[in-house]
Amino acid sequence: MLEKIQETAAYLKGKMHTSPETAIILGTGLGSLANEITEKYEIKYSDIPNFPVSTVAGHKGALLAGKLGDTEVYAMEGRFHFYEGYSMKEVCYPFYVFKLLGVEKVVLTNACGGINREFAPGTLMLITDFINMMGTNPLIGPNDERFGPRFPDMTEPYSLELRNLAKQTADELGIAYKEGVYMGFMGPCYETAAEIRAFAGMGADAVGMSTVPETMVCNYMGMKVLAVSCITNMATGIQTVKHSHARVLEIANQAGDTLCRWLGAVIQRME
Ligand code: HPA
Repeated sequence: MLEKIQETAAYLKGKMHTSPETAIILGTGLGSLANEITEKYEIKYSDIPNFPVSTVAGHKGALLAGKLGDTEVYAMEGRFHFYEGYSMKEVCYPFYVFKLLGVEKVVLTNACGGINREFAPGTLMLITDFINMMGTNPLIGPNDERFGPRFPDMTEPYSLELRNLAKQTADELGIAYKEGVYMGFMGPCYETAAEIRAFAGMGADAVGMSTVPETMVCNYMGMKVLAVSCITNMATGIQTVKHSHARVLEIANQAGDTLCRWLGAVIQRME
């Protein structure tokens, strides 16, 4: 796997002529931050050697390099989901590449369902911790110590320093947010009402189908992670209507502007 990752990293290095220390992953419907990126260089996933290709409506499938203000960033327009049929290693492949490219901080965004009844569609939730309910783990298999340890610590999966910076920035900009625990669910079915009752009892504030594998792999490799969810709907049994992906996209697009303003400012303030 290391050779493949090195090949991908060498290709991107040759194309992109920048060396960002921050990568941001633009989740479902949250792509508008890409419009804020200047001096942009874009490569389609399908043109990157060894990269998986994303298949979900609302996910673009391109890697950008450029600047947010004065800060160099990579941005992934579209991520890879386990439910699409990728292996967990494929889902996390870009993060191994980012590590070789010198990225130290990763900002993850996603659309998800609200379990905490204080939330409403459109709420932005700073993720404080996760519960892995995906039934597997991307780090299963032989371990390459050059990337990280066999038994990675998950005491602080979302960097306290970055969370504090995000909170301070939100307060200064007058952006409302909540904090909570994200549960990663395999999908692609939305959860049942019984599952949501169980997850609420387990301490989850929100549920979605991404973010947890990437968080585990980035922590394993010693990268700092910040993650923000957009609550696009209340979870099954809490909202009375059936789920609709179109509605998820609509709410994510609406809240996306605020999320962009927030994360754009946070990234420019990162050390
Ligand atoms: N459940 C899981 N994933 C989601 C949801 C949800 O309710 N909304 C958006 N992504």
